[in-house]
Amino acid sequence: MTRRALALASKGVGLVSPNPLVGCVIVSANGEVVGEGTYLYDGVTHAEVLALEQAGEHARGGTAYVSLEPHSHHGKTPPCTQALINAGIKRVVAPIEDPNPLVSGKGFQALRDAGIEVSVGLCADEASKLNEKFICWHKKSRPFVHLKMAMSLDGRISMGSSVSTVLSSDAGMKRVQAFRHEHDAILVGANTVVVDDPSLTDRSGFDRRRKLVRVILDNRLRTPLDATVVKTANETPTILVSNSTDQEKMKSMIESGVDFVSADARDLSAVLQALRERELQSVLVEGGSSVAGAFRDAGLIDKLTLMISPRIVGGTEAPLAFTGNGAKSIEEATTLDDISIQRHGPDIEITGYPKSFAR
Ligand SMILES: NC(=O)c1ccc[n+]([C@@H]2O[C@H](COP(=O)([O-])OP(=O)(O)OC[C@H]3O[C@@H](n4cnc5c(N)ncnc54)[C@H](OP(=O)(O)O)[C@@H]3O)[C@@H](O)[C@H]2O)c1
Repeated sequence: MTRRALALASKGVGLVSPNPLVGCVIVSANGEVVGEGTYLYDGVTHAEVLALEQAGEHARGGTAYVSLEPHSHHGKTPPCTQALINAGIKRVVAPIEDPNPLVSGKGFQALRDAGIEVSVGLCADEASKLNEKFICWHKKSRPFVHLKMAMSLDGRISMGSSVSTVLSSDAGMKRVQAFRHEHDAILVGANTVVVDDPSLTDRSGFDRRRKLVRVILDNRLRTPLDATVVKTANETPTILVSNSTDQEKMKSMIESGVDFVSADARDLSAVLQALRERELQSVLVEGGSSVAGAFRDAGLIDKLTLMISPRIVGGTEAPLAFTGNGAKSIEEATTLDDISIQRHGPDIEITGYPKSFAR
């Protein structure tokens, strides 16, 4: 049942950020599923309340399975713990505590104080992964960083640093769109904009509450005024991080709808802080190699995906996936944990979490 609560919670992907994904299943005293709920976004009824409404009187003496600790504070909605208590629930099963300091542990305590049995820990890893962006937001006070690169078997990301190259298959690219759908922002370096002229939009086809925000790191303001990201900045939010003083170009970009963050784009902590101020809970970093290397060097990758196309490019012209300063010893190399491998058509996806990463 906890897995069912997690599956219900996942329906909120793309809708609930910066709030958590929450699902709830109510099982009656005689073991029947009598209510289900999913939290769909800010200001809308919470999963527990929806499930309790469906269950009605059948909830009395029953068990509530939730994907995350129910909240006990008066936020935009009344406490869910009180709704569970009022409905006569006897037992609450939750995989993890809420990382939000306003809620953490207090929801479980409120339930226990009301004589409800509380079981915590079942499917904790799955639940932590499901809400990894929300957890990072509260525990690290910055957006979750997922870095994704498409590359050949020999680690090349294009045929040349000024050559736009499509490496992934349609199936691989569909998977990348699904990643974009999960995130609040997408980030690239100036050279990628100059070379690829990407649109950087969520074309997954799934509903999202807020548009995917584009972020470009561009200290020398090399983004062309006729780049797709500039021409479409009025319909798709676009942030340009730059310490440039070229007032004239900046003015033209602002007129096109670009939002400027005046900061050194090389200071990635400052970049992430600027995104946090805009309530962007997660960012998908899509390259190129200098930006990927900079995030690696700074230890700011929470999750890494390599979409490997089964080809070998060879030669000395084709850039590698990561530049930057690089590791000075094997101990300094980024080592992945918790690795999953999937196939998407001919492409091989490797996703993992850098070892220092703790959810
Ligand atoms: N296969 C893939 O998944 C993939 C994805 C994206 C791109 N690409 C390819 O990658 C190539 C471009 O990669 P690239 O390494 O040349 O360029 P890049 O990483 O896209 O951009 C690098 C530029 O961004 C600016 N920048 C600003 N802040 C930075 C920071 N914190 N760290 C690093 N750079 C920062 C710098 O220019 P300023 O000094 O002017 O600010 C730097 O020269 C292209 O061939 C593109 O097609 C492949």
